[in-house]
Amino acid sequence: MDSSSWPQTKPRFADRVAVITGSSSGHGRAIAIRLASEGASLVCVDLQPGALGGGFEADPDTDTDALIRRNRGRAIFVRADITSEADLSEVGATSVREFGALDLWVNNAGISFGNASILDEADERFTKTIEVNLKGTWNGAREAARRMKDQPVKGRVRGRIVNIGSIAGNIGQADLASYSASKGAVHHFTKALAIELAPQLITVNAVAPGYFATAMNRALWEDESALEHVREMHPLPLGVPEDIAAAVAFLGSDDASFVTGAILPVDGGMAAK
Ligand SMILES: NC(=O)c1ccc[n+]([C@@H]2O[C@H](COP(=O)([O-])OP(=O)(O)OC[C@H]3O[C@@H](n4cnc5c(N)ncnc54)[C@H](O)[C@@H]3O)[C@@H](O)[C@H]2O)c1
Repeated sequence: MDSSSWPQTKPRFADRVAVITGSSSGHGRAIAIRLASEGASLVCVDLQPGALGGGFEADPDTDTDALIRRNRGRAIFVRADITSEADLSEVGATSVREFGALDLWVNNAGISFGNASILDEADERFTKTIEVNLKGTWNGAREAARRMKDQPVKGRVRGRIVNIGSIAGNIGQADLASYSASKGAVHHFTKALAIELAPQLITVNAVAPGYFATAMNRALWEDESALEHVREMHPLPLGVPEDIAAAVAFLGSDDASFVTGAILPVDGGMAAK
């Protein structure tokens, strides 16, 4: 192989603009930091700029966008509720106005009300879980597709959408039916949209995390027997949000130009059992 055909590598997101929903805490914060460290300009999106109480973030008192700017990255914060199409339309407009493009949209924001039997679960909790986890992902993907479909091709695609599903969307677990249903739907939505948007050269993939220490799971991490059960479910030692960020960075980069409709488990082998 001569030097003209030797692979040339450069920061994967040097000329890319990414929107991350739920960027203030947990996985979203780790994803934003990872993409910024690889050169992306970021639109950080959340209900509030600060991390949720009860999380495990290092330096939780510094907002994600401020942390990125402090490390010489490019990031702005836009307050938005993913259940509002109007809010997300403003997010898309801000990305194009401030950074000139929208190359990657990560639908990460999500909620869980914790474990409850269907016999006890409040209807409002089921409805809210579906509204945020599924409709919020739908809203984000639609805004992304509207913006991306007429963009020039960069690398081999016009844009990329990455959804955060869950291992709960792959396997059945007792007392988690509403959350599982929302995430199973996100996985299937991902596949359907991947086929639909392939002609527009937009890729759509999902990451399916196992259990991670974030504010969402604070109760599990405070209960030693519950945590032992969580450990037993994962063949590998427990992962960290940076593992999710690495998977999103792959699916959002040119390295994944020929990957669409994939649901990538990042679960230490949990779903392989
Ligand atoms: N932590 C886990 O073990 C785990 C496992 C599987 C999947 N996930 C998924 O990972 C994603 C991130 O979860 P996390 O664990 O980092 O949780 P988290 O609670 O630490 O962070 C979620 C973030 O989303 C934001 N958010 C919630 N509702 C929103 C809304 N309507 N509009 C805008 N922002 C909103 C919150 O303010 C928060 O900053 C979620 O989709 C979650 O379902 C998490």
